[in-house]
Amino acid sequence: MEHYADLIDVARQTVSPRVFVDQDVYRAEQARIFTKCWLFVAHDTLIPNPRDFVSTFMGEEPVIVVRGEDGAIRVFINSCRHRGARVCRVDHGNNALFTCPYHGWNYDCKGKLRGVPQHDTAYHGELDKGLWGLIEVPRVESFRGLVFANFDAQAMPLSDYLGDFRWYLDLVLNRAKNGMTCLPGVHRWRLGGNWKLAAEQFLGDNYHTSTLHRSMLMIGLGPTDGDFRGNAPWEKDFEVKCANGHGWINFDIPAPPLPPEQEAFIARVREEAKTTLNPEQQKLLFHAQVGTVFPNFSILSFLGFTTIRVWQPVGTHQMHAWAYGLVEKDAPPVVTELIRKMQVLTFSPSGIYEQDDGVAWQSAVEAMDGVVRRHYPLNYQQGAGHGRTMANKPGLIHPPSTEIGVFGFYEFWREMMAKEAV
Ligand code: FES
Ligand SMILES: [Fe+2]
Repeated sequence: MEHYADLIDVARQTVSPRVFVDQDVYRAEQARIFTKCWLFVAHDTLIPNPRDFVSTFMGEEPVIVVRGEDGAIRVFINSCRHRGARVCRVDHGNNALFTCPYHGWNYDCKGKLRGVPQHDTAYHGELDKGLWGLIEVPRVESFRGLVFANFDAQAMPLSDYLGDFRWYLDLVLNRAKNGMTCLPGVHRWRLGGNWKLAAEQFLGDNYHTSTLHRSMLMIGLGPTDGDFRGNAPWEKDFEVKCANGHGWINFDIPAPPLPPEQEAFIARVREEAKTTLNPEQQKLLFHAQVGTVFPNFSILSFLGFTTIRVWQPVGTHQMHAWAYGLVEKDAPPVVTELIRKMQVLTFSPSGIYEQDDGVAWQSAVEAMDGVVRRHYPLNYQQGAGHGRTMANKPGLIHPPSTEIGVFGFYEFWREMMAKEAV
Protein backbone atom coordinates (compact mmCIF):
# COMPACT_ATOMS: atom_id res chain seq x y z
CA MET A 1 0.00 0.00 0.00
CA GLU A 2 1.12 3.52 -0.75
CA HIS A 3 2.50 5.32 2.29
CA TYR A 4 1.31 8.82 1.67
CA ALA A 5 2.73 9.95 5.00
CA ASP A 6 6.24 9.42 3.57
CA LEU A 7 5.68 12.33 1.21
CA ILE A 8 6.12 14.74 4.11
CA ASP A 9 9.52 14.58 5.83
CA VAL A 10 8.85 16.01 9.27
CA ALA A 11 12.47 15.81 10.41
CA ARG A 12 13.83 17.71 7.40
CA GLN A 13 10.73 19.91 6.91
CA THR A 14 10.30 19.03 3.25
CA VAL A 15 7.34 18.17 1.05
CA SER A 16 7.38 15.96 -2.03
CA PRO A 17 6.14 17.56 -5.27
CA ARG A 18 3.95 14.47 -5.62
CA VAL A 19 1.73 15.97 -2.93
CA PHE A 20 0.68 18.51 -5.56
CA VAL A 21 0.92 16.75 -8.94
CA ASP A 22 0.28 13.02 -8.41
CA GLN A 23 -3.15 11.68 -9.42
CA ASP A 24 -3.06 8.87 -6.84
CA VAL A 25 -2.34 11.34 -4.08
CA TYR A 26 -5.17 13.53 -5.29
CA ARG A 27 -7.66 10.64 -5.27
CA ALA A 28 -6.50 9.56 -1.81
CA GLU A 29 -6.96 13.11 -0.54
CA GLN A 30 -10.57 13.05 -1.60
CA ALA A 31 -11.15 9.96 0.53
CA ARG A 32 -8.92 10.74 3.48
CA ILE A 33 -9.19 14.49 3.91
CA PHE A 34 -12.37 15.72 2.25
CA THR A 35 -14.50 13.01 3.90
CA LYS A 36 -13.04 13.51 7.37
CA CYS A 37 -12.42 17.21 7.88
CA TRP A 38 -14.88 20.00 8.52
CA LEU A 39 -15.59 21.77 5.22
CA PHE A 40 -17.15 25.22 4.81
CA VAL A 41 -20.44 25.02 2.90
CA ALA A 42 -22.24 28.36 3.39
CA HIS A 43 -22.61 31.52 5.41
CA ASP A 44 -25.84 31.32 7.34
CA THR A 45 -26.96 34.77 6.18
CA LEU A 46 -27.15 33.41 2.62
CA ILE A 47 -29.98 31.09 3.69
CA PRO A 48 -31.89 33.02 6.37
CA ASN A 49 -35.40 31.66 5.70
CA PRO A 50 -37.03 28.21 5.67
CA ARG A 51 -36.52 26.47 2.30
CA ASP A 52 -33.58 28.77 1.35
CA PHE A 53 -30.78 26.80 -0.22
CA VAL A 54 -27.39 27.10 -1.91
CA SER A 55 -25.50 24.57 -4.02
CA THR A 56 -21.81 24.00 -3.44
CA PHE A 57 -19.18 21.27 -3.17
CA MET A 58 -17.54 19.25 -0.41
CA GLY A 59 -14.35 18.14 -2.11
CA GLU A 60 -15.61 16.86 -5.45
CA GLU A 61 -19.08 15.96 -4.12
CA PRO A 62 -21.80 18.41 -5.18
CA VAL A 63 -24.05 19.23 -2.23
CA ILE A 64 -27.23 21.15 -1.45
CA VAL A 65 -27.25 23.21 1.75
CA VAL A 66 -30.85 23.89 2.76
CA ARG A 67 -32.64 25.38 5.74
CA GLY A 68 -35.65 23.29 6.70
CA GLU A 69 -39.08 24.43 7.88
CA ASP A 70 -37.76 23.75 11.38
CA GLY A 71 -34.91 26.27 10.90
CA ALA A 72 -32.19 23.59 10.89
CA ILE A 73 -29.59 23.60 8.12
CA ARG A 74 -29.06 20.22 6.44
CA VAL A 75 -26.63 19.19 3.74
CA PHE A 76 -27.31 16.53 1.09
CA ILE A 77 -25.29 15.07 -1.74
CA ASN A 78 -26.74 16.66 -4.86
CA SER A 79 -27.23 13.41 -6.74
CA CYS A 80 -30.49 11.61 -7.41
CA ARG A 81 -30.96 8.16 -5.90
CA HIS A 82 -32.43 6.90 -9.20
CA ARG A 83 -29.64 7.34 -11.77
CA GLY A 84 -27.44 9.80 -9.97
CA ALA A 85 -28.27 12.96 -11.92
CA ARG A 86 -27.68 16.30 -10.26
CA VAL A 87 -31.02 17.10 -8.66
CA CYS A 88 -30.54 20.81 -8.06
CA ARG A 89 -29.03 22.64 -11.01
CA VAL A 90 -29.17 26.23 -9.76
CA ASP A 91 -26.82 28.07 -7.40
CA HIS A 92 -29.35 29.29 -4.85
CA GLY A 93 -33.05 29.82 -4.28
CA ASN A 94 -36.03 28.98 -2.12
CA ASN A 95 -37.65 25.66 -2.75
CA ALA A 96 -40.00 23.25 -1.01
CA LEU A 97 -39.18 20.42 -3.41
CA PHE A 98 -36.07 19.57 -5.40
CA THR A 99 -37.14 17.86 -8.61
CA CYS A 100 -34.65 15.80 -10.57
CA PRO A 101 -34.59 16.96 -14.20
CA TYR A 102 -33.95 13.43 -15.54
CA HIS A 103 -37.08 11.42 -14.59
CA GLY A 104 -38.75 13.66 -12.06
CA TRP A 105 -38.14 12.12 -8.65
CA ASN A 106 -38.49 14.88 -6.11
CA TYR A 107 -37.20 15.43 -2.59
CA ASP A 108 -38.19 17.78 0.24
CA CYS A 109 -35.99 20.02 2.42
CA LYS A 110 -35.27 17.08 4.74
CA GLY A 111 -34.05 15.05 1.78
CA LYS A 112 -37.05 12.73 1.88
CA LEU A 113 -38.21 11.27 -1.43
CA ARG A 114 -41.70 12.68 -1.93
CA GLY A 115 -42.80 12.22 -5.52
CA VAL A 116 -42.02 9.50 -8.05
CA PRO A 117 -43.61 9.73 -11.52
CA GLN A 118 -45.66 6.62 -12.36
CA HIS A 119 -45.24 5.32 -8.83
CA ASP A 120 -48.45 3.27 -8.99
CA THR A 121 -48.04 1.92 -12.51
CA ALA A 122 -44.32 1.58 -13.29
CA TYR A 123 -43.36 0.65 -9.72
CA HIS A 124 -46.68 -1.07 -8.96
CA GLY A 125 -46.85 1.10 -5.85
CA GLU A 126 -44.07 -1.02 -4.34
CA LEU A 127 -41.19 1.49 -4.14
CA ASP A 128 -40.46 2.25 -0.49
CA LYS A 129 -39.86 5.99 -0.65
CA GLY A 130 -38.57 5.97 2.91
CA LEU A 131 -35.43 4.15 1.73
CA TRP A 132 -34.53 6.39 -1.18
CA GLY A 133 -34.06 9.88 0.21
CA LEU A 134 -31.09 12.09 -0.70
CA ILE A 135 -27.85 11.06 1.00
CA GLU A 136 -27.47 13.29 4.02
CA VAL A 137 -24.12 14.60 5.27
CA PRO A 138 -24.22 13.48 8.91
CA ARG A 139 -22.68 16.50 10.63
CA VAL A 140 -23.45 20.20 10.19
CA GLU A 141 -22.22 22.77 12.71
CA SER A 142 -21.51 26.49 12.60
CA PHE A 143 -19.23 29.09 14.10
CA ARG A 144 -20.05 32.83 13.98
CA GLY A 145 -22.20 32.36 10.88
CA LEU A 146 -19.78 30.05 9.07
CA VAL A 147 -21.54 26.76 8.33
CA PHE A 148 -19.32 23.69 8.08
CA ALA A 149 -20.26 20.08 7.29
CA ASN A 150 -18.45 16.80 7.76
CA PHE A 151 -19.00 13.39 6.11
CA ASP A 152 -17.48 11.71 9.17
CA ALA A 153 -20.19 11.02 11.75
CA GLN A 154 -17.44 10.39 14.34
CA ALA A 155 -15.57 13.65 13.71
CA MET A 156 -14.71 15.84 16.68
CA PRO A 157 -17.07 18.82 17.18
CA LEU A 158 -16.37 21.82 14.96
CA SER A 159 -15.49 23.97 17.98
CA ASP A 160 -12.78 21.47 18.99
CA TYR A 161 -11.55 21.18 15.41
CA LEU A 162 -11.15 24.96 15.17
CA GLY A 163 -9.70 24.99 18.69
CA ASP A 164 -7.43 27.95 19.43
CA PHE A 165 -7.91 29.22 15.93
CA ARG A 166 -11.30 30.59 17.01
CA TRP A 167 -9.37 33.28 18.94
CA TYR A 168 -8.02 34.59 15.61
CA LEU A 169 -11.23 34.13 13.62
CA ASP A 170 -12.97 36.24 16.26
CA LEU A 171 -10.69 39.18 15.48
CA VAL A 172 -12.73 39.53 12.29
CA LEU A 173 -15.98 37.67 12.83
CA ASN A 174 -16.75 38.87 16.34
CA ARG A 175 -15.44 42.43 16.33
CA ALA A 176 -18.92 43.93 15.76
CA LYS A 177 -21.66 43.20 18.25
CA ASN A 178 -24.16 42.07 15.60
CA GLY A 179 -21.71 39.93 13.63
CA MET A 180 -21.26 39.78 9.88
CA THR A 181 -23.47 39.33 6.87
CA CYS A 182 -22.56 37.95 3.47
CA LEU A 183 -22.86 40.14 0.38
CA PRO A 184 -25.21 38.54 -2.15
CA GLY A 185 -23.68 36.17 -4.66
CA VAL A 186 -20.48 34.19 -4.84
CA HIS A 187 -17.55 35.04 -7.10
CA ARG A 188 -16.37 31.83 -8.72
CA TRP A 189 -13.50 31.35 -11.08
CA ARG A 190 -11.16 28.70 -12.37
CA LEU A 191 -7.47 28.79 -11.50
CA GLY A 192 -4.51 26.74 -12.58
CA GLY A 193 -2.63 25.17 -9.67
CA ASN A 194 -3.26 22.70 -6.88
CA TRP A 195 -5.80 23.73 -4.21
CA LYS A 196 -3.20 23.35 -1.44
CA LEU A 197 -0.99 26.07 -2.91
CA ALA A 198 -3.78 28.58 -2.37
CA ALA A 199 -4.69 27.24 1.08
CA GLU A 200 -1.06 27.39 2.28
CA GLN A 201 -0.45 30.86 0.89
CA PHE A 202 -3.40 32.31 2.80
CA LEU A 203 -2.39 30.31 5.87
CA GLY A 204 1.11 31.63 6.27
CA ASP A 205 2.97 32.85 3.20
CA ASN A 206 3.81 36.44 3.89
CA TYR A 207 7.10 35.78 2.15
CA HIS A 208 5.73 36.04 -1.39
CA THR A 209 4.12 39.44 -1.07
CA SER A 210 7.16 41.68 -1.54
CA THR A 211 8.19 39.76 -4.66
CA LEU A 212 5.09 38.46 -6.41
CA HIS A 213 2.96 41.50 -5.55
CA ARG A 214 5.75 44.05 -6.03
CA SER A 215 3.75 45.73 -8.78
CA MET A 216 1.15 46.58 -6.10
CA LEU A 217 3.79 48.50 -4.20
CA MET A 218 4.93 50.25 -7.34
CA ILE A 219 1.46 51.63 -8.06
CA GLY A 220 0.80 52.51 -4.41
CA LEU A 221 -1.65 49.71 -3.54
CA GLY A 222 0.52 48.02 -0.93
CA PRO A 223 1.83 49.14 2.45
CA THR A 224 3.08 52.70 2.20
CA ASP A 225 6.49 51.78 3.63
CA GLY A 226 6.92 49.14 0.93
CA ASP A 227 7.35 46.35 3.47
CA PHE A 228 4.90 43.56 4.14
CA ARG A 229 6.65 42.49 7.34
CA GLY A 230 5.59 45.32 9.62
CA ASN A 231 7.50 47.03 12.41
CA ALA A 232 6.34 45.24 15.56
CA PRO A 233 7.52 41.64 15.32
CA TRP A 234 5.93 39.13 17.74
CA GLU A 235 3.33 41.61 19.00
CA LYS A 236 1.57 43.04 15.97
CA ASP A 237 3.37 41.47 13.03
CA PHE A 238 3.45 37.71 13.30
CA GLU A 239 2.39 34.39 11.84
CA VAL A 240 0.76 31.60 13.79
CA LYS A 241 0.76 27.83 13.62
CA CYS A 242 -2.40 26.49 15.25
CA ALA A 243 -3.50 22.91 15.95
CA ASN A 244 -5.15 20.77 13.25
CA GLY A 245 -3.34 22.44 10.37
CA HIS A 246 -4.83 25.93 10.72
CA GLY A 247 -2.72 29.08 10.47
CA TRP A 248 -2.90 32.87 10.55
CA ILE A 249 -0.95 35.93 9.43
CA ASN A 250 -1.33 39.20 11.29
CA PHE A 251 0.39 42.41 10.35
CA ASP A 252 -0.20 46.01 11.14
CA ILE A 253 -0.36 47.45 7.66
CA PRO A 254 -0.03 51.25 7.58
CA ALA A 255 -3.43 52.33 6.34
CA PRO A 256 -3.85 54.72 3.44
CA PRO A 257 -6.37 57.56 3.94
CA LEU A 258 -9.88 56.10 3.93
CA PRO A 259 -13.19 57.73 3.03
CA PRO A 260 -14.63 59.49 6.13
CA GLU A 261 -17.68 57.18 6.27
CA GLN A 262 -15.41 54.16 6.47
CA GLU A 263 -13.20 55.78 9.10
CA ALA A 264 -16.29 56.55 11.18
CA PHE A 265 -17.58 53.03 10.82
CA ILE A 266 -14.26 51.49 11.82
CA ALA A 267 -14.20 53.75 14.90
CA ARG A 268 -17.69 52.54 15.82
CA VAL A 269 -16.72 48.88 15.49
CA ARG A 270 -13.65 49.53 17.65
CA GLU A 271 -15.98 50.69 20.39
CA GLU A 272 -18.21 47.64 19.98
CA ALA A 273 -15.20 45.33 20.12
CA LYS A 274 -14.58 46.47 23.69
CA THR A 275 -17.54 44.30 24.63
CA THR A 276 -16.97 41.38 22.24
CA LEU A 277 -13.18 40.86 22.33
CA ASN A 278 -10.65 40.64 25.15
CA PRO A 279 -7.95 43.35 25.57
CA GLU A 280 -5.26 41.33 23.79
CA GLN A 281 -7.55 40.77 20.81
CA GLN A 282 -8.51 44.45 20.75
CA LYS A 283 -4.84 45.39 20.20
CA LEU A 284 -4.99 43.54 16.85
CA LEU A 285 -8.21 45.05 15.54
CA PHE A 286 -8.30 45.98 11.85
CA HIS A 287 -4.80 44.81 11.14
CA ALA A 288 -4.28 42.96 7.87
CA GLN A 289 -5.29 39.39 8.68
CA VAL A 290 -5.24 36.27 6.57
CA GLY A 291 -5.81 32.67 7.61
CA THR A 292 -6.79 29.18 6.55
CA VAL A 293 -8.93 26.59 8.29
CA PHE A 294 -7.60 23.21 7.16
CA PRO A 295 -8.14 22.06 4.51
CA ASN A 296 -9.51 24.62 2.05
CA PHE A 297 -11.30 27.53 3.73
CA SER A 298 -9.53 30.90 3.90
CA ILE A 299 -10.35 34.33 5.25
CA LEU A 300 -8.73 37.67 4.51
CA SER A 301 -9.53 41.00 6.13
CA PHE A 302 -7.93 44.41 5.91
CA LEU A 303 -9.15 47.97 6.40
CA GLY A 304 -12.60 46.58 7.22
CA PHE A 305 -12.90 44.62 4.00
CA THR A 306 -13.34 40.88 4.48
CA THR A 307 -13.49 38.02 2.04
CA ILE A 308 -13.92 34.34 2.79
CA ARG A 309 -13.23 31.73 0.18
CA VAL A 310 -13.09 28.04 -0.55
CA TRP A 311 -10.39 26.53 -2.76
CA GLN A 312 -12.43 23.78 -4.42
CA PRO A 313 -10.23 20.90 -5.64
CA VAL A 314 -10.70 20.10 -9.32
CA GLY A 315 -7.86 17.72 -10.10
CA THR A 316 -4.17 18.08 -9.37
CA HIS A 317 -3.62 21.06 -11.66
CA GLN A 318 -6.80 23.04 -11.29
CA MET A 319 -8.99 24.55 -8.60
CA HIS A 320 -12.09 26.67 -8.45
CA ALA A 321 -12.03 29.69 -6.16
CA TRP A 322 -15.37 30.51 -4.53
CA ALA A 323 -15.16 33.92 -2.85
CA TYR A 324 -17.74 35.60 -0.65
CA GLY A 325 -17.70 39.18 0.64
CA LEU A 326 -18.47 39.82 4.31
CA VAL A 327 -19.44 43.06 5.97
CA GLU A 328 -20.67 43.95 9.44
CA LYS A 329 -24.44 43.39 9.62
CA ASP A 330 -25.32 46.97 10.50
CA ALA A 331 -22.79 48.74 8.24
CA PRO A 332 -24.28 51.80 6.52
CA PRO A 333 -25.02 51.22 2.81
CA VAL A 334 -22.23 53.59 1.76
CA VAL A 335 -19.67 51.49 3.65
CA THR A 336 -21.07 48.25 2.27
CA GLU A 337 -20.71 49.66 -1.24
CA LEU A 338 -17.10 50.74 -0.57
CA ILE A 339 -16.29 47.27 0.71
CA ARG A 340 -17.92 45.61 -2.29
CA LYS A 341 -15.77 47.75 -4.58
CA MET A 342 -12.62 46.90 -2.62
CA GLN A 343 -13.35 43.22 -3.10
CA VAL A 344 -13.76 43.63 -6.84
CA LEU A 345 -10.53 45.62 -7.16
CA THR A 346 -8.29 43.47 -4.96
CA PHE A 347 -9.40 39.91 -4.27
CA SER A 348 -11.86 38.76 -6.94
CA PRO A 349 -11.60 37.20 -10.44
CA SER A 350 -10.44 40.58 -11.73
CA GLY A 351 -8.71 41.49 -8.46
CA ILE A 352 -5.20 42.69 -8.95
CA TYR A 353 -3.66 40.65 -6.10
CA GLU A 354 -5.56 37.57 -7.14
CA GLN A 355 -4.15 37.65 -10.66
CA ASP A 356 -0.55 37.52 -9.42
CA ASP A 357 -1.22 34.53 -7.18
CA GLY A 358 -2.99 32.51 -9.88
CA VAL A 359 -0.04 32.80 -12.24
CA ALA A 360 2.38 31.58 -9.56
CA TRP A 361 0.23 28.59 -8.55
CA GLN A 362 -0.23 27.42 -12.11
CA SER A 363 3.46 27.72 -12.92
CA ALA A 364 4.37 25.72 -9.81
CA VAL A 365 2.34 22.63 -10.71
CA GLU A 366 3.46 22.78 -14.32
CA ALA A 367 7.14 23.12 -13.49
CA MET A 368 7.30 20.41 -10.81
CA ASP A 369 5.25 17.82 -12.69
CA GLY A 370 8.18 16.24 -14.57
CA VAL A 371 9.21 12.67 -13.82
CA VAL A 372 12.61 13.86 -12.61
CA ARG A 373 11.59 17.00 -10.70
CA ARG A 374 9.01 15.03 -8.72
CA HIS A 375 11.76 13.21 -6.84
CA TYR A 376 13.37 16.33 -5.42
CA PRO A 377 11.60 17.68 -2.34
CA LEU A 378 10.39 21.22 -1.71
CA ASN A 379 11.94 23.25 1.09
CA TYR A 380 9.66 24.33 3.96
CA GLN A 381 12.43 24.98 6.51
CA GLN A 382 11.99 28.72 6.98
CA GLY A 383 11.87 29.51 10.70
CA ALA A 384 11.81 25.84 11.71
CA GLY A 385 12.51 25.45 15.42
CA HIS A 386 12.25 29.19 16.09
CA GLY A 387 8.53 29.49 16.84
CA ARG A 388 7.52 30.54 20.35
CA THR A 389 4.44 30.20 22.48
CA MET A 390 3.38 33.50 24.01
CA ALA A 391 1.26 34.38 27.01
CA ASN A 392 -0.95 36.88 25.21
CA LYS A 393 -2.09 34.84 22.22
CA PRO A 394 -2.58 31.18 21.27
CA GLY A 395 -0.57 29.02 18.88
CA LEU A 396 3.09 28.92 17.93
CA ILE A 397 4.26 32.39 16.90
CA HIS A 398 7.01 33.67 14.64
CA PRO A 399 7.34 37.07 12.93
CA PRO A 400 7.12 37.22 9.13
CA SER A 401 8.57 35.63 7.19
CA THR A 402 8.32 32.04 8.35
CA GLU A 403 6.99 28.69 7.16
CA ILE A 404 6.17 27.21 10.55
CA GLY A 405 2.47 27.68 9.85
CA VAL A 406 2.43 26.31 6.32
CA PHE A 407 4.50 23.30 7.32
CA GLY A 408 1.98 22.72 10.14
CA PHE A 409 -0.64 22.43 7.39
CA TYR A 410 1.37 19.57 5.81
CA GLU A 411 1.99 17.91 9.18
CA PHE A 412 -1.76 17.70 9.66
CA TRP A 413 -2.23 16.63 6.01
CA ARG A 414 0.24 13.83 6.68
CA GLU A 415 -1.64 12.77 9.80
CA MET A 416 -4.94 12.59 7.90
CA MET A 417 -3.42 10.80 4.91
CA ALA A 418 -1.96 8.13 7.19
CA LYS A 419 -5.44 7.13 8.36
CA GLU A 420 -7.64 4.65 6.58
CA ALA A 421 -10.05 6.04 4.02
CA VAL A 422 -13.79 6.07 4.75
S1 FES B 1 -31.93 10.26 -12.27
FE1 FES B 1 -33.23 11.42 -11.03
S2 FES B 1 -35.20 10.71 -11.51
FE2 FES B 1 -33.92 9.43 -12.67
FE1 LIG C 1 -0.76 36.62 -2.79
